[in-house]
Amino acid sequence: MNVLKRCIYGISIVSLASMNIQCKGDKKVEETKLEATATDSVSIAKSEFGKTAKGEQVDLYTLKNQKGMEVNIMTYGGIITSLKVPNKAGVSEEVVIGFSNLEQYTKDNPYFGALIGRYGNRIAKGKFTLDGKEYTLAANNGKNALHGGPEGFHRKVWTVEEAKSGANATLKLKYVSKDLEEGYPGNLTVFVTYTLNNDNSLDVLYEATTDKKTIVNLTQHSYFNLSGDFTKTILDDEVVIDADKLVPVDADLIPTGKLTDVTNTPFDFRKPRVIGKDIEAKDDQLIKGKGYDHCWVLNNQDKGDRFAASAYDPTSGRLLEVYTDQPGIQLYTGNFLDGTLPMRNGGTYAHRTGLCLETQHYPDSPNQKDFPSTVLSPGENYKTKTTFKFSVK
Ligand code: BGC
Repeated sequence: MNVLKRCIYGISIVSLASMNIQCKGDKKVEETKLEATATDSVSIAKSEFGKTAKGEQVDLYTLKNQKGMEVNIMTYGGIITSLKVPNKAGVSEEVVIGFSNLEQYTKDNPYFGALIGRYGNRIAKGKFTLDGKEYTLAANNGKNALHGGPEGFHRKVWTVEEAKSGANATLKLKYVSKDLEEGYPGNLTVFVTYTLNNDNSLDVLYEATTDKKTIVNLTQHSYFNLSGDFTKTILDDEVVIDADKLVPVDADLIPTGKLTDVTNTPFDFRKPRVIGKDIEAKDDQLIKGKGYDHCWVLNNQDKGDRFAASAYDPTSGRLLEVYTDQPGIQLYTGNFLDGTLPMRNGGTYAHRTGLCLETQHYPDSPNQKDFPSTVLSPGENYKTKTTFKFSVK
């Protein structure tokens, strides 16, 4: 009964259909299947992943559907530690970069699989002004602030508001970011809900409210390698981005403030473009980004949730489509991966072995008067959704 109590703690709508207690070495691993009814098609199960240096327990949730897709998400950073989907032969394989243990995630790493907040992407010189008051953030990327600061939301243990199975499986995570945490004003209550559907799509719903005017730009930082083989780069992937315009940057990857047309540039992804085709071209923006590390201005901004981008690996046949209601998407081609971080089963992640498709507002919006606003005021609800949909062709 003790075990049962511990397993259901913090979860609102579950009933326990089965429980599995295994012993690995001298470590007891409890896996609890949080299943509602026998007819559920998408399941969710919980296990312990480890403890942080501060002694906080971190749990791992496994969401699994009947089409061969399985996603592991841990409460530390809301990190997607694993995402498996079938290739064209029906074989499910790992397609996101990740580590095999919690300790490695708590060390310095480029946000593998993490939820990013309070402000995804860069803020110039780590400074912005709201209602005449200047706020200063930690400079954790040269002189600029990146991805919410050194701790951001990616190094916090999130609480679980809901974990349930059914026609889809849902994991709702909560984090309360305190007033002036990482320098941002206002107590911000954040919910991120991951939903695995039975059509091999994963929805990420972001919600937030504040008690003081603040800025918010949340995103997800998974690195995809659709080949399922992390010794291969992503350079053969064919990418589509539904964007006529780019947010060009300076040498520090801070927007210049202008938006430029992608026509006749290596940034025109309106038709499928192989990433490796021009990535080494002597193009000013590619040189500044050390490859693709840019935000595109998505088309159809008035249409709400719509197709934004896709990546296709011709060898495995895996296609990833991204849908969002956000105005921008950052394509980052793993240019700073340098063979120092360990893969799950030996070896290291080399240059460009993963790509990120981060849906978001444009970088440095708080300092750019012509960019859509990222300000959230008390009484307003921040609500945005992104879907990662997998299939084969
Ligand atoms: C940024 C890159 C950065 C990476 C890891 C990406 O979102 O655009 O410049 O290196 O995150 O921090």
